[in-house]
Amino acid sequence: MYDGGKIITGLIIGIGLIAFPIWLNAGKAVKKADPKLPAKEKQCVEPTQYMLTNHMEVLDLWRDSVVRLGDRYFISFDGKKYRVSLQNTCMSAECHPKKKEFCDECHDYMGIEPYCWDCHIEKGEKK
Ligand code: HEC
Ligand code: HEC
Repeated sequence: MYDGGKIITGLIIGIGLIAFPIWLNAGKAVKKADPKLPAKEKQCVEPTQYMLTNHMEVLDLWRDSVVRLGDRYFISFDGKKYRVSLQNTCMSAECHPKKKEFCDECHDYMGIEPYCWDCHIEKGEKK
């Protein structure tokens, strides 16, 4: 009735196929996120550690500040004044000019894809 041999062979091939991607990656070092920090500036609008964990909230705050309140300036913890702009401040030449080498480096690693660039343009990107 049942052909035990065929079932077992089938199972072995099946499991092998499922595990194939794992074998393919075995022994390869997982590439760590390595965001390129600005050459000159020592910190972002707020201290690095704070930005690391809170940049999304800062960006939300910045957006609401401009879009809802019409306020285009931001005063940081240490009293410095910044013009609120994703493109012209965050992504400026002195700070994070290359989205790929900074933002994407982490986001790709974490598997997140902020939708901001559906509308905002990347420096050097032609739309
Ligand atoms: C549907 C299109 C759209 C999307 C998606 C979008 N924005 Fe905006 N954003 C705008 C528009 C329009 C303005 C107003 C531009 C102005 O008045 O300078 C703006 C303004 C801003 C500003 C303040 C002004 C500036 O020049 O930066 C920030 C900061 C901002 N958005 C951040 C974000 C972030 C962060 C995301 C993703 C989480 C995002 N936006 C997604 C359309 C969008
Ligand atoms: C050091 C790693 C790292 C770098 C560099 C980085 N991010 Fe992020 N970002 C994250 C992580 C992690 C999250 C997700 C946090 C969560 O889901 O709670 C995130 C989330 C976000 C979000 C919210 C997305 C959402 O869907 O809620 C925005 C907006 C964002 N990042 C913008 C930026 C921008 C703009 C840059 C570059 C100027 C940048 N990030 C650079 C790690 C990073």
